[in-house]
Amino acid sequence: MTIPRRSLLSTLLFFALGVAANPVVVNHSPIKLTLFKQHNFTSAHNLVTHDQARAEQLKNRAYKGNVAVPVNTQITNQAVTYTASVGVGNPPTTYSLLIDTGSSNTWVGATQGKPYRFSTSTRPTTNFVEVSYGSGSFQGFEVDDKLKISPNVAIQSQSIGAAIASQGFNGVDGILGIGPVGLTAGTLFPATTSTVPTVTDNLFNQGLIPANQVGIYFAPTTQQSVQNGELTYGGTDSSKYTGTISYTPVTTTSPASRYWGINQSIRYGPSTAILSTTAGIVDTGTTLILIASDAFSRYTSATGAVLDNTTGLLSITPAQYAKLQSLYFTTNGVTYTFTANAQLFPRSLNTLIGGTASNIYLIVANLGSPSGRGLDFINGYAFLERFYSVFDTANKRVGFATTAFTTATTN
Ligand SMILES: *[C@@H]1O[C@H](CO)[C@@H](O)[C@H](O)[C@H]1NC(C)=O
Ligand SMILES: *[C@@H]1O[C@H](CO)[C@@H](O)[C@H](O)[C@H]1NC(C)=O
Ligand SMILES: *[C@@H]1O[C@H](CO)[C@@H](O)[C@H](O)[C@H]1NC(C)=O
Repeated sequence: MTIPRRSLLSTLLFFALGVAANPVVVNHSPIKLTLFKQHNFTSAHNLVTHDQARAEQLKNRAYKGNVAVPVNTQITNQAVTYTASVGVGNPPTTYSLLIDTGSSNTWVGATQGKPYRFSTSTRPTTNFVEVSYGSGSFQGFEVDDKLKISPNVAIQSQSIGAAIASQGFNGVDGILGIGPVGLTAGTLFPATTSTVPTVTDNLFNQGLIPANQVGIYFAPTTQQSVQNGELTYGGTDSSKYTGTISYTPVTTTSPASRYWGINQSIRYGPSTAILSTTAGIVDTGTTLILIASDAFSRYTSATGAVLDNTTGLLSITPAQYAKLQSLYFTTNGVTYTFTANAQLFPRSLNTLIGGTASNIYLIVANLGSPSGRGLDFINGYAFLERFYSVFDTANKRVGFATTAFTTATTN
């Protein structure tokens, strides 16, 4: 039997187009991952110096590429970490990875005795990979491998760094980067100009999630180690926020624009301007809320706080706390009220940072450089523990919503 020529052509075309268009059938709902929080405040000043070193590194990485920046303080490890468990390879090895919005590579092997394991799904590449963070760095080789994100969902071919060496990571096996894909440029050698699709990109491109976005929920904690967060790939979890999510476009101001950067202004109380509208970033890898040094001076005067030499944090008296006003973060016309209690370091954890149990420390700290530099604030965990956040790659925007904890008095 001969197939009419036209029909054969259209059949071929159908398949050719089908392959080219890679028709992805999305039949999965958003994927929820449980996040685990761990504190490791080991020395006085660790928290503030860690955050400042990270801020410095983020600014430098954006300007100069992926280079290590000399940091004069010894930073041994992350102060607060949120981790998720994922499986790599076939059969999968389970790794506990730090969730990081400020970087985009995913890698394993930070822990001694738990290196990357070759398996039947390992596809070696010819690249080395290296990433520097404010709090450490890693060097290794790049493989493509199966990455199991939840019991029923696996990415078939994910670029993964297999660490040969790493510095500054204790208690985690590596990093799961949820930053923008552009941050992977310059991390591969010799393929220095290439970017590698992030985990979120691949989940979306392989039809495993319905949207290229991530929703994050962190609740405030008062215990050292607890399961209290959730990351949603491909959507948001309406049971974790109240009201509606408002979005703000990713800023065009560099270097904040390379990260999850937004334009935002900050006010204290009814009328004290702390920071007029400027660019900064939203970052899970920063513990505190950092604001440019001039804004920090205004906040210090407004609250009457003094810098505590032992912890490196601002400290206020009970009388000053009684008068402490809310901070108002305004972005794209929407204002988020950050209560007085939200501005406190959790008092039950005071002694862990070398502080005095009965003192009142504040989580607003000095970024270490004046405003006008294109990255003038960092909304870190302290902010994200009060507002649900959405990192929307497809629409280049960041969303926030209030949660049951926005006005909680847990601190
Ligand atoms: C906490 O920090 C100490 C000292 O830097 C380090 O030895 C330890 O491994 C860290 N633990 C965790 C769980 O990060
Ligand atoms: C953010 O602020 C900068 C500087 O004022 C401005 O050019 C830009 O249009 C603003 N909006 C966005 C989305 O970047
Ligand atoms: C804090 O440190 C500075 C500089 O080291 C010193 O001048 C100041 O007296 C100290 N303040 C307190 C309260 O110890």
